[in-house]
Amino acid sequence: MSRLRPASRTLPIRESVIREMTRLAVSVGAVNLSQGYPDFDPPPEVTEAAKAAIDSGVNQYTNPWGLPLLRERLAAQYRAWLGWEVEADRHVTVTCGVTEGLSSVMLALLDPGDEVLVLEPAHDNYWPVVHLAGAVPVPVALEGPAYALDVDRLAAAVTPRTKVLLLNTPHNPTGRVFDEAELAALADVVTRHDLVLVTDEIYDRLVYDGRRHRCPGAVDGLHERTVTVSGLGKTFAVTGWRLGYVIAPEAFADAVHKVHDFATICAPAPLQAAAAAALDLPEPYYDGLVAEYTARRALALDVLRGVGFEVASPEGAYYLLADYRGLPGPAPSQDPTSFAAWLTTEVGVAVVPGDAAYTLEGYGAGTVRVAFCKRLETLKAAGERFAAALG
Ligand SMILES: Cc1ncc(COP(=O)(O)O)c(C=O)c1O
Repeated sequence: MSRLRPASRTLPIRESVIREMTRLAVSVGAVNLSQGYPDFDPPPEVTEAAKAAIDSGVNQYTNPWGLPLLRERLAAQYRAWLGWEVEADRHVTVTCGVTEGLSSVMLALLDPGDEVLVLEPAHDNYWPVVHLAGAVPVPVALEGPAYALDVDRLAAAVTPRTKVLLLNTPHNPTGRVFDEAELAALADVVTRHDLVLVTDEIYDRLVYDGRRHRCPGAVDGLHERTVTVSGLGKTFAVTGWRLGYVIAPEAFADAVHKVHDFATICAPAPLQAAAAAALDLPEPYYDGLVAEYTARRALALDVLRGVGFEVASPEGAYYLLADYRGLPGPAPSQDPTSFAAWLTTEVGVAVVPGDAAYTLEGYGAGTVRVAFCKRLETLKAAGERFAAALG
């Protein structure tokens, strides 16, 4: 066979539908409610800190595990959140976004052929990070409309090759914030089957209606076997800065350090300095964040329900899963990909097809994902376009 072919581990990877929808949105001038990035600025304290860092010479490689000041902040936060002695030098790794964090963790944990349980619907980065580690993603459905964690189904999917369970909470795209009972049942499956839990908690500060985020790694029995991954992109509206981190327990701390170092050396130095400033923002910043997102959520729900989408209110994160089958007109009979393309090009509002969050056949039918991490004006503009086309 010719050598002019890519590595086989790349073959199962398809292009990100989320990013593809953004490209389509830009090319047709649609209001972009597809990809989950804010269209408003980060807090001024954070951008000022980035500029000050550049001006004061923080422009070279940092320690590969991350700027010491930032790791100290993260270690202090996670000592409180996880309830164990997280050490800045040992257990924390600052990464280029959650995506690199998850990728480094998978490379650090998995051998070729190992299996990873992936709850679907899932973010479309999850399958590639598993494939790139030579491992096999095994989908386990969360059934709508409740999207409750079905631990019997999870346990039934475990095989002798299963090593990792990948859990996202607060959850994209369903908006679920898995509750204490679900996490306790999950902990039972993880410990009983000697699995490692890898979490993606990127929306940890975006939980609504008085809920509080609880780190799964803080649940009894999970400390030694949970690798916690999160990031700053969503909380501080800096998705383009590429800042994430991994809190790894003793067994995996060295391996994550090594993989991250040789993947990227370090995350951008001045932006790490700004991240430390971001983590210094006082508690009212987070209260304001939740209040603003609550208003965006309310408007987005009104806009969608007003034209006939059926949509539940999310408990966390910043997406809505909207069922379009009750809308008037012929378009709603289309599959999600065609419907999302039609909505983007003909109505002028870009969304993500619901079935892009599944590898399981037959799931996600009749739904699209709508990101509401946008200015109220943007959401209103989307509403006007919906009303003109569908109202
Ligand atoms: C659940 C989830 N994980 C990870 C990411 C990507 O994170 P980052 O931009 O920090 O790589 C996203 C982005 O939307 C996400 O929704």
